Amino acid sequence: MNDLMTFSKINIEPAERSKIHEIDFNNLVFGRKFSDHMFVMEYEHGEWNEPVIKPYGPIEVTPALNTLHYGQAIFEGMKAFYVDENTINIFRPDVHHERLNNSARRMDIPETDYDIFITALEELMKLDHQFVPKQFGTSLYIRPFIFASDDLLAARSSTKFSYYIITSPVGTYYSEGFAPVSLTTTDEYVRAVSGGTGEAKTAGNYAASFLPAKKAVQDGYTQVLWLDATEHKYIEEVGTMNIHFLIGDTLVTPELTGSILPGVTRRSVTALAVEWGYNVEERRISIDEVFKASENGELKEVFGSGTAAVISPVGLIHHKGSTINIGTGKIGDFAKRLFDEITGIQYGKLEDPYGWIHSVEI
Ligand code: COI
Repeated sequence: MNDLMTFSKINIEPAERSKIHEIDFNNLVFGRKFSDHMFVMEYEHGEWNEPVIKPYGPIEVTPALNTLHYGQAIFEGMKAFYVDENTINIFRPDVHHERLNNSARRMDIPETDYDIFITALEELMKLDHQFVPKQFGTSLYIRPFIFASDDLLAARSSTKFSYYIITSPVGTYYSEGFAPVSLTTTDEYVRAVSGGTGEAKTAGNYAASFLPAKKAVQDGYTQVLWLDATEHKYIEEVGTMNIHFLIGDTLVTPELTGSILPGVTRRSVTALAVEWGYNVEERRISIDEVFKASENGELKEVFGSGTAAVISPVGLIHHKGSTINIGTGKIGDFAKRLFDEITGIQYGKLEDPYGWIHSVEI
């Protein structure tokens, strides 16, 4: 790795007035309200400059900003959890940072240093600990992102980048809460192709999915279940989460083919299933196989996994005019066990034998 510099301390400009009174902790809408501070670091002349934590607020950009035109931008989605008045737990920051750097490499964005990342997160947690909601099911969503900041219309990699971390108190991602969501495939659009940017967490992947997602909602479904771009046959992911199928006693998860985002919760789900003695298969799984398993009564559960979505049961899948209903309209036992274990570890109620938690003393 080139261009990395380590800073032992981050300069902090504290906010003069807190916005904590603007937060309605009983009605948290995903990503609507933000904490008092944000982390900022700029890249210029081939190196990252001094980082700073300052009051959250608007940023001034020029109309020729590279990102606005060409989308050379990446992000992460992570969460921190209230444990007690002295402790906040951040879930798997090392793995999220590793993925941020993987996305950076694919998008020709300079990599960043883990020491700065974790120090920034610790400082933000200490400064803005009041924004970490206390109720079970809520958390502080952490959004690190890096975008090209050259002020130039040439269509090529930027030479300047801006790196931010903002945080937002959140409740559940889907309006369904913990109730099963419904998915539909589409043969009109694809999300990503192997060799493209599907496995990077980059802005354009999401922008490209908005129209199909809007159409899915108009048709009465929560989200699109993406199939592979070549054969329109194999299941990939849901765009806002990865997907898993419990067929008999086997947990089948679409394998990472280059066009699927390697989810951190996805990784936690498969690790737990192995630990619990399930057969775990990461392989290609076709939509036909899922429909057949449903017909044969072997399809026990379908659920999504993601930082925002946590574990999200799927109650219905629509494909080419046919629909299958999964389970009883409630979360299945296996998905519930995963949800309980993962959230138990996150909120510090269960032991963390896997080293997934980074605790911050506040
Ligand atoms: C996440 O799960 O953190 C995501 O990034 C999904 C979505 C909110 C874009």
